Amino acid sequence: MPVPMPGTMPESEMVSDMAQTRLATVTAPNDLESYWLPFTPNRSFKRSPRLIVRAKDMHYYSADNRALLDGTAGLWCTNAGHNRDPIVAAIKRAAEQLDYSPAFQFAHPAAFELAGRVAALAPGDLNRVFFCNSGSEAVDTALKIALAYHNVRGEGSRTRLIGRERGYHGVGFGGISVGGIVNNRKFFGSLLAGVDHLPATYSREHQAFTKGEPQWGAHFADELERLVALHDAATIAAVIIEPMAGSTGVLPAPQGYLQRLRAICDRHGILLIFDEVITGFGRLGYAFAAERYGVVPDLITFAKGVTSGAVPMGGVIARDGIYEAFMRGPEHVIELFHGYTYSAHPLACAAGLATLDLYRDEKLFDRAKALEPRFADAAMTLRGLPGVLDIRTVGLAVGIDLASRAGAPGLRAYQVMERAFQEEGVMVRAAGETIALSPPLIVSEAQIDEIFDKVGRAIKAVM
Ligand SMILES: Cc1ncc(COP(=O)(O)O)c(C=O)c1O
Repeated sequence: MPVPMPGTMPESEMVSDMAQTRLATVTAPNDLESYWLPFTPNRSFKRSPRLIVRAKDMHYYSADNRALLDGTAGLWCTNAGHNRDPIVAAIKRAAEQLDYSPAFQFAHPAAFELAGRVAALAPGDLNRVFFCNSGSEAVDTALKIALAYHNVRGEGSRTRLIGRERGYHGVGFGGISVGGIVNNRKFFGSLLAGVDHLPATYSREHQAFTKGEPQWGAHFADELERLVALHDAATIAAVIIEPMAGSTGVLPAPQGYLQRLRAICDRHGILLIFDEVITGFGRLGYAFAAERYGVVPDLITFAKGVTSGAVPMGGVIARDGIYEAFMRGPEHVIELFHGYTYSAHPLACAAGLATLDLYRDEKLFDRAKALEPRFADAAMTLRGLPGVLDIRTVGLAVGIDLASRAGAPGLRAYQVMERAFQEEGVMVRAAGETIALSPPLIVSEAQIDEIFDKVGRAIKAVM
């Protein structure tokens, strides 16, 4: 049937009966079917939904109005706590003043201000900030900058990217290629060519129940020398790792590991990328983990905590020399052929600036550092509970490994997460066989104890 041109029939008749019916259905409440939840077992969720309707400071509130202590800073992102007034006010102001400004060929002042503030928090000459909207985009951006950097310097043979087993770098094709999570890789075809992986740095035998960086494991960095011997440095563009692997169960870097990796990269002209999407903005007691370890990478990715989760934002911080390598050729020509419609979105920039103010005014990074020993001690009280195989802490993060249920990998941790939500009033994260906790940095000592009491009860209850 031909579609009538607008204006050729009365507006009231322009929407067909069928379309009207469809419009009516989309407003139907309580239908859980249409939404395909990300990284969630959809059928089990829809049988017993965990619906959150609001949040304030350290708490979420469920649809049945139960307060839930946030043990996970949302998804490692609400580092300043929830619905903080200055952030909410800044977003409102920005929405009223400038809803959107084109990210290409134009810009708005808050983008420059936020870039400067983020650069000031980064160590060394990491002074150039490229904005995007998520951690996945930040990772793909960093990988592309690394490849293009070698290209513009006449080392176009450096195309190989090195990641690490048990690494998580988001869900873009670049990120899943350098990442080392089997389920993120096995369903999606051949991924990026020319990628290799360092081994994971975890060994339960040598590191179980360690607070902070384990003493054993720095030698895993030397595997990079093996990959250089195999592929030749002239083919390797960059190594990307998380200073602390978060999503695969909180695996802190062994003492000396990152320093060794830096030295090997320097020796061979390989760029070192720290994926600080989780560790950025205070999780390990510093603005960036790079500072905690005294290692200056060439590129840092960030996201999550930059806006305390209030508006999506991510980005890459590059050393001056990397930026400058691109600033050649005719001045009317784009130097880096990359960007997103919503790079440096005005609402995200406003949220970011207000968030950085809160981090500064409330000294939240120092607070995380000061709370680290207390948090680690509280976490270790769960040692000895049935089924607890390991507990690892660093900064305000902990991974608690549980024994697998026979024939049902991941089920026990999932049950602990459900039980914690439904019965104990605490939000925890189940990641495979691990319960991961990473509360907002405003958490009090009493709330730390409360989190671990509740998690302990949930672990015992599902045994
Ligand atoms: C280290 C790391 N990189 C990248 C990502 C992806 O971030 P996003 O989910 O915002 O795309 C994550 C998410 O948890 C992460 O932990």
